[in-house]
Amino acid sequence: MAKIARPALWLFSLAVATAQTQPQCLSTTNGTTFNGTAGSELQLNGTTIRTIDAADADQGVAVDADYIYSIDNYSITKHNKTTGAPLLQWYGSPSGPIIHLDGGVLINSTLYAPHSNYPSSPITSSIETWDATTLNHTSSHAFGIERGSLTWIDQNPTTGAWYGAFANYDRVQPGQAVPYGLTMRTQVVRFGEGWKVERSWVFPEALWQSFSPMSNSGGSFGADGWLYVTGHDASAAYVMKIPDAGSTLIWVATISLPDIEGQGIAWDRSRGLNGSLYGISREGGKIVEMRVPLQNCSWDVPTMVGAVYGPGEFVGLDG
Ligand SMILES: *[C@@H]1O[C@H](CO)[C@@H](O)[C@H](O)[C@H]1NC(C)=O
Ligand SMILES: *[C@@H]1O[C@H](CO)[C@@H](O)[C@H](O)[C@H]1NC(C)=O
Ligand SMILES: *[C@@H]1O[C@H](CO)[C@@H](O)[C@H](O)[C@H]1NC(C)=O
Ligand SMILES: *[C@@H]1O[C@H](CO)[C@@H](O)[C@H](O)[C@H]1NC(C)=O
Ligand SMILES: *[C@@H]1O[C@H](CO)[C@@H](O)[C@H](O)[C@H]1NC(C)=O
Ligand SMILES: *[C@@H]1O[C@H](CO)[C@@H](O)[C@H](O)[C@H]1NC(C)=O
Ligand SMILES: *[C@@H]1O[C@H](CO)[C@@H](O)[C@H](O)[C@H]1NC(C)=O
Ligand SMILES: *[C@@H]1O[C@H](CO)[C@@H](O)[C@H](O)[C@H]1NC(C)=O
Ligand SMILES: *[C@@H]1O[C@H](CO)[C@@H](O)[C@H](O)[C@H]1NC(C)=O
Repeated sequence: MAKIARPALWLFSLAVATAQTQPQCLSTTNGTTFNGTAGSELQLNGTTIRTIDAADADQGVAVDADYIYSIDNYSITKHNKTTGAPLLQWYGSPSGPIIHLDGGVLINSTLYAPHSNYPSSPITSSIETWDATTLNHTSSHAFGIERGSLTWIDQNPTTGAWYGAFANYDRVQPGQAVPYGLTMRTQVVRFGEGWKVERSWVFPEALWQSFSPMSNSGGSFGADGWLYVTGHDASAAYVMKIPDAGSTLIWVATISLPDIEGQGIAWDRSRGLNGSLYGISREGGKIVEMRVPLQNCSWDVPTMVGAVYGPGEFVGLDG
């Protein structure tokens, strides 16, 4: 197989994950005038801690206490977290049945990965799992035709609820006559028992417009409960809040991440609030470990759903 025969091009990362990264809550992120309206989101800068060469860093990345997993359409490499050295690879086949993995998350030594048949039509999705120790494929949950291409899944560390995104695209795929679902129809969902979709939200228009013609690609919860998502190409992550009313996510912050171009991301929650954010650079075939300034910031994002008025204070009522 091409992947396996490829020479081992990985290098030792320049910093061998030495000093524990201190959780950061930069003063610039506190006392902000953020008020939850579109256009008022925070603009912040993340910084790269190290990069690791990884041939499978094409779709996404996953991380646990001791290992990093780089993920391509139908292959997964497990790396030593300290040195980046590749230790084990799972390799499927270009003819499937697994053809388009989009990322992954490690929960209880199981690698959960979102899968779709992108860019084929009709759009189908599944969740595939691997034993993280042996990298044997262990199970599959088929959605068949759901509400788009499943691009990420993660478990909210605070509530235990699973979330994910079914992406749709403005791009017209090769051999097809119409857009691949329309980017505006991309939805973040909350799963219940048996991966049943029990809630769903869309992105604010300005954000899905910025994803177009592609869509939301990555998503991961920080240890502090913030949801971070990415597009397909931009060097940034976006912090989203579930709204108290309605179906549109609230755009809290944009974090510039110069060494990634969208795609899968994964918080290292094994180190609690000290953990860093991992992403990939598919151009360079690299895993990128980053520090993000919102880490360990916990201020309330105000959301205004409305107010109650008594007689004499009614709004817009005559008399
Ligand atoms: C942020 O500001 C609030 C109110 O001014 C203060 O109570 C809190 O300690 C600050 N947090 C950090 C991490 O600086
Ligand atoms: C929210 O912030 C934006 C931009 O900073 C500002 O234009 C708008 O007036 C603010 N809205 C409220 C309700 O404070
Ligand atoms: C982020 O980086 C840009 C460009 O280097 C700079 O102009 C901006 O002030 C930085 N923002 C923060 C919050 O540090
Ligand atoms: C992964 O799949 C996508 C969609 O089919 C394709 O465009 C891309 O070239 C594939 N990447 C690799 C490295 O094979
Ligand atoms: C990673 O590699 C280092 C250096 O070879 C080694 O000390 C460490 O035990 C390895 N970690 C794991 C989890 O195998
Ligand atoms: C992980 O294991 C813990 C402890 O056994 C359990 O409470 C939790 O439900 C498990 N999570 C998942 C997603 O299986
Ligand atoms: C897991 O994979 C290994 C190596 O391919 C194999 O020897 C082992 O039997 C597999 N275990 C299971 C439970 O399938
Ligand atoms: C976070 O870092 C601090 C300071 O280095 C350390 O005391 C603490 O144990 C770390 N927490 C975790 C969960 O690793
Ligand atoms: C997070 O920030 C708070 C307040 O600044 C601090 O007391 C706490 O130790 C920090 N947590 C970690 C894990 O460092």
